[in-house]
Amino acid sequence: MSGAVDRTVDLGDLGFDRGAHLLVEHVRRGLPPGARVAVLGSDPALPVHLRAWARARGHRLDDGVLVVGGADVDRWHDAARAGDPATATADRAPAAWGLAARGALLETGGPEPGFDLDRHDVVWADIAPRLYAQALAGQWDPATAIDWSHPDALPPEVEEAVVQVMTYLIENEQAALTVPARFLGRVHPHFREVVQLLAVQVADEARHVEVFTRRARLHGRPLGESGAGGRASLQSLLDEPDFTLALFLLSVLGEGSFLNLLSFLEQHAPDRVTRSVARLVLQDEARHVAYGLAHLELAVAADPGLRPRLALAVERRHDALRDTTGLNAAVHDALIVLAAGEWTPTAIATGADRVRSLEADMDEGRRRRLARLGFTTDESAALSALHTRNFM
Ligand SMILES: [Fe+2]
Ligand SMILES: [Fe+2]
Repeated sequence: MSGAVDRTVDLGDLGFDRGAHLLVEHVRRGLPPGARVAVLGSDPALPVHLRAWARARGHRLDDGVLVVGGADVDRWHDAARAGDPATATADRAPAAWGLAARGALLETGGPEPGFDLDRHDVVWADIAPRLYAQALAGQWDPATAIDWSHPDALPPEVEEAVVQVMTYLIENEQAALTVPARFLGRVHPHFREVVQLLAVQVADEARHVEVFTRRARLHGRPLGESGAGGRASLQSLLDEPDFTLALFLLSVLGEGSFLNLLSFLEQHAPDRVTRSVARLVLQDEARHVAYGLAHLELAVAADPGLRPRLALAVERRHDALRDTTGLNAAVHDALIVLAAGEWTPTAIATGADRVRSLEADMDEGRRRRLARLGFTTDESAALSALHTRNFM
């Protein structure tokens, strides 16, 4: 049965194979179910294509006139926004939001991916969007940021010490890359800025692995030793399944200690390349520590029961590593030689003093960060003392 039409759309010679559906849909939008649209056009395939399109979208054809159906409208009638596009506000991001853009109009009935790090108090830190912006602005290119072309020549055993320290740093950087990379894919995309920040952090660590490797191989020497105790210490970071505890051990305590180690290298390394590398890596690490600490501060404020769990994590790690030797003696000695720079009793004594004061600075930094998480002076001192002698 034919009748009056509500709207007419003239497609000219435009066929459905070249986008005619967009014009039809443009006219259809906003019309109530039952409205009639005359679709005119000269494309020979138009009747066939229009019929197929109408059926797929829940409309029908009545004597060549498109009659708007209700199904297409219904598909979206209970659609809701997937959060606020400006910022992550959900206490817990619904699984159904999945991969949708934050703020998108979400059709119901989609998949529910298992992003298990989906709670605001478990992943968020207010500083994350700002740190992400800083991280992007602070990216540097190892090829141009460091002048590799005229490296300083060092006495062979001093070069060997630098290579040993680089060898140690590389395995630590690999742990610092692996830990956030493993959690990254579990963070709900609603907390987009945290995902972005962790992604850049992983990229930072990849660059750190690269520059320490380049420095180690600069003069063609073989790489140094990798002690089992050091690797066991790093393994205990990889084995921590809880995101907040892992960030606490890795970023607050480990990378926190590394800030001191990197300043030590920036100040005392015997050659310019090592000093520049340390300075650049230090800038990135400061951001990693800032996120870890900000996240932990928020988490401790949200859950008063967290602090004893943090203490327990440090104690557990200490007990697990009790039988290992901690920092490889080769690394410890290499730090002394590196800071001594030459083979005289006075220089070696200075190197040893500098390493002792590095360890004191690390301890002081850890105690300060622990105090920011609400630990008492005594608790902070005790926990800092239990931190791994491998530094990370
Ligand atoms: Fe790093
Ligand atoms: Fe880091």
